[in-house]
Amino acid sequence: MSTDATTEAPQIRKGLAGVVVDTTKISKVNAETNSLLYRGYPVQELAAHCSFEEVAYLLWNSELPDADQLRDFTAAERGGRALDPVVKSVIDSLPVEAHPMDVCRTAASVIGARHRLAEDSSPEANLAKALELFAAFPAVVAYDQRRRRGQDLVEPRDDLGYAANFLWMSFGEEAAPEVVDAFNVSMILYAEHSFNASTFTARVITSTLSDLHSAVTGAIGALKGPLHGGANEAVMHTFEQIGIRTDESREEAAARARTWMEQALAEKKKVMGFGHRVYKHGDSRVPTMKAALDKMIEHYGRPEILGLYDGLETAMAEAKDIKPNLDYPAGPTYHLMGFDTDMFTPLFVASRITGWTAHIMEQLESNSLIRPLSEYNGPGQRALGR
Ligand code: ACO
Repeated sequence: MSTDATTEAPQIRKGLAGVVVDTTKISKVNAETNSLLYRGYPVQELAAHCSFEEVAYLLWNSELPDADQLRDFTAAERGGRALDPVVKSVIDSLPVEAHPMDVCRTAASVIGARHRLAEDSSPEANLAKALELFAAFPAVVAYDQRRRRGQDLVEPRDDLGYAANFLWMSFGEEAAPEVVDAFNVSMILYAEHSFNASTFTARVITSTLSDLHSAVTGAIGALKGPLHGGANEAVMHTFEQIGIRTDESREEAAARARTWMEQALAEKKKVMGFGHRVYKHGDSRVPTMKAALDKMIEHYGRPEILGLYDGLETAMAEAKDIKPNLDYPAGPTYHLMGFDTDMFTPLFVASRITGWTAHIMEQLESNSLIRPLSEYNGPGQRALGR
């Protein structure tokens, strides 16, 4: 809250909209040019040419790894992939009805409580913790989906890259190269997005000098909400509500989706997967993710999914000129790959752990307790009368 010099009235920025709270060297979101840079590199170029492991290294170390650095980094990541038996037993103790985001949140907390460097917040210790979480989370997410399906844990394979191994642990079979590519692209696009709600949550927790795992656990809670990460699941629920009919043509599906959207907007509903607090002319990540979705639609031969996608997008554009955000193409992409809908936001977690932990380390480089003010508008002072 700042004050206006002439009236002394406080300027309240609900939702901190438009408020710049700090500087960051990690990523630059430019809403005017619809661009997103990670450490200076356009995210589209990283998605086209890099593995997710290279991007994680970049986010934490400011530069892309050279061949030796990548070899060491990859070896460390592969060495940390196995699911800790204690974490597995805690996951097993949770009901299969629990939301998978609650399982992620619990797993991050348990990993932290068991960490040998739990109270060490030095840059070296935090980098090690970040790498361990990054390496461990595919097992958490993959195993949680499998146990809900009545399936056993699949052990990791250290001859596969991060994306291929994640799919292997999820489905127990090797994914086709084009599916691995699309999954790798999604991980890169979800990795980092400046001071979004979950990242800011992580920075607030870090600013109290709490530990990295507490900050990540809190960030997972923030990401769960449908106005943030939960939207990728909500997109699929919309598709399911409209009805996914595999025998339908693209045009037929598009027509039904348009009708659904017109009705939803007439009822003043918010449709998940559309709109963004920062991007008002389109989300910079959507074209790259949509290209990955197109490849998956072709790979799996599912034109009706494209029909639903087009129908909703066109009707929303015509009625309100609101564009899709990253969750819109990501949801159906994960659906086509075979993930259960309520696992979509945990996939976002596995990726965003890289961005959150980069911000946690940056926050600690020049920390200041984050503690805003509020304008009190409750009852005036009154006597208790006792
Ligand atoms: N569906 C329908 N109308 C919408 C939508 C939507 N998805 N998004 C915005 N609008 C409308 C609002 O109703 C409002 O209209 P009005 O002025 O007639 O009341 C106007 O656009 C402005 O919307 P706000 O919610 O005030 O804009 P804000 O910047 O606060 O919201 C937000 C951004 C929260 C993302 C919003 O667009 C939304 O709720 N979208 C759906 C949730 C979603 O997809 N979240 C994912 C975000 S991206 C990510 O996490 C990867």
